[in-house]
Amino acid sequence: MRSFLFIFFFFFFASISNTSVVADESLDTPCIIFDRFHMYVINNIPAEIKLHAYSKDDDLGYHILPYYAFYDWSFCFGPKTLFSGQLWWGSKYIALNLVDNHVHKMCDRQMFGVRHCYWLVRPEGFYIGVKNNTWPDASWVFQTPWP
Ligand SMILES: *[C@@H]1O[C@H](CO)[C@@H](O)[C@H](O)[C@H]1NC(C)=O
Repeated sequence: MRSFLFIFFFFFFASISNTSVVADESLDTPCIIFDRFHMYVINNIPAEIKLHAYSKDDDLGYHILPYYAFYDWSFCFGPKTLFSGQLWWGSKYIALNLVDNHVHKMCDRQMFGVRHCYWLVRPEGFYIGVKNNTWPDASWVFQTPWP
């Protein structure tokens, strides 16, 4: 019993102490207080794009995404969660928040379970959806054009 309690509190405090901005791979790991998010960045441009995703605690690295390829990661969304992104398409470049309170609001559409959230990168700009519906689809909400 004692060791059970110890393990419980160890994981409890481990989970709240990192303020839940560290991405981890496992979708099965429950978030203690917050909701688990699964983010995807999908390239819908018929060309390669490059993505750099990072938070204060966690650099997810640089990823080359061919047409239709995607990058995804999972994390517990907490009050301070912020993932930034840099994207390159040919000579175009943009820096934007991939996960912030606005994105959270757009994708937090259910009571239970993992919240899936999709960025769709298109030639005219960036869309968010809670489902990976085949483009074009009214469920994709336009966010911002390429600069
Ligand atoms: C999104 O949907 C397309 C078309 O059905 C599929 O090819 C692709 O793998 C899906 N991507 C993700 C991240 O689910």
